[in-house]
Amino acid sequence: MKRVLCIGHAVQDYVFRVPHLPQRAEKYRADGFTCAGGGPAATAAVAITRLGGAAQLVARVGADSIADAIEHELRSYGVDCQYLRRIDGCSSSISAVFVDAQGERMIVNHVDAQLTRDPAWLSQVDVTAADAVLADTRWPEGAAELLGHARRASKLAVLDADLPVPKEWDFLASATHIAFSRPGLCDFCGHDEFEQALRDVATRTGAWCCVTLGGDGVVYTANGQLAREPAFAVQPRDTLGAGDVWHGAFALALAEGVREPQAVRAASAAAAIKVSRVGGRAAIPTRAERDRLLEAQ
Ligand SMILES: Nc1ncnc2c1ncn2[C@@H]1O[C@H](COP(=O)(O)OP(=O)(O)OP(=O)(O)O)[C@@H](O)[C@H]1O
Ligand SMILES: [Mg+2]
Repeated sequence: MKRVLCIGHAVQDYVFRVPHLPQRAEKYRADGFTCAGGGPAATAAVAITRLGGAAQLVARVGADSIADAIEHELRSYGVDCQYLRRIDGCSSSISAVFVDAQGERMIVNHVDAQLTRDPAWLSQVDVTAADAVLADTRWPEGAAELLGHARRASKLAVLDADLPVPKEWDFLASATHIAFSRPGLCDFCGHDEFEQALRDVATRTGAWCCVTLGGDGVVYTANGQLAREPAFAVQPRDTLGAGDVWHGAFALALAEGVREPQAVRAASAAAAIKVSRVGGRAAIPTRAERDRLLEAQ
């Protein structure tokens, strides 16, 4: 079983279903409520275990009951939480999410400013035991540290380059594989010509690069050219976390020795199934479900 070390954000989402999004400073009633874990690295780690890999999460949380809930859910999916660091005097990250009848969202997020950004404790993390490192951009100092360790140990170093992407070429160059979201790529390059932006980043960093385009699939670099993998046609029911599942599935496939074009396709199948279902992380497909979709098309 291949092992992926995921570093980045873990958050607890409090999701209220409301007929209309709040407009004014008054009291509103929700007609539904769920409390669920989120965060790109944490959800990617769950996707990896659902798909039959081993995942370790490296993240900072507070010393509070929210951290208990975050860790309890991750452990229930088999994620190794040895490096989930509880920081005294801090609160864990939370989001209040309001979703209206049309599926429109309003999100208020709180990340404790006292959560230390110092990556010094990451020297305790054993990267050599992993086959790949996958980092999100929510803790850039930590991501740079572990991607750098991965490269020095000749491991795969995969970056989920979603907003906000630090505007530092050295940061991007610490990855062997960079998977941008479209907003992440356009913000980094300062324009909307995403195909040109992808070529420029690939040339300047030497990394394999792609951009995920939601229901429009993925564009990636291949031998100096661009190639496109269409999205699997599904009826979208909940797109929250699609990118996180995609990145977890992609990193696991690479760790298993799958070449990039096939890894892109496998990740797209996993994300498409997630999008077609409701149910939060429980809707992330198993390996058998993902493989059935791959074989069917
Ligand atoms: N509506 C959809 N139908 C089929 N596949 C989808 C759909 N939305 C997303 N996907 C799959 O998931 C991949 C990642 O989605 P997307 O590009 O939206 O990620 P993202 O921008 O990082 O978003 P987030 O991190 O908020 O989920 C897409 O490239 C595609 O393969
Ligand atoms: Mg994303």
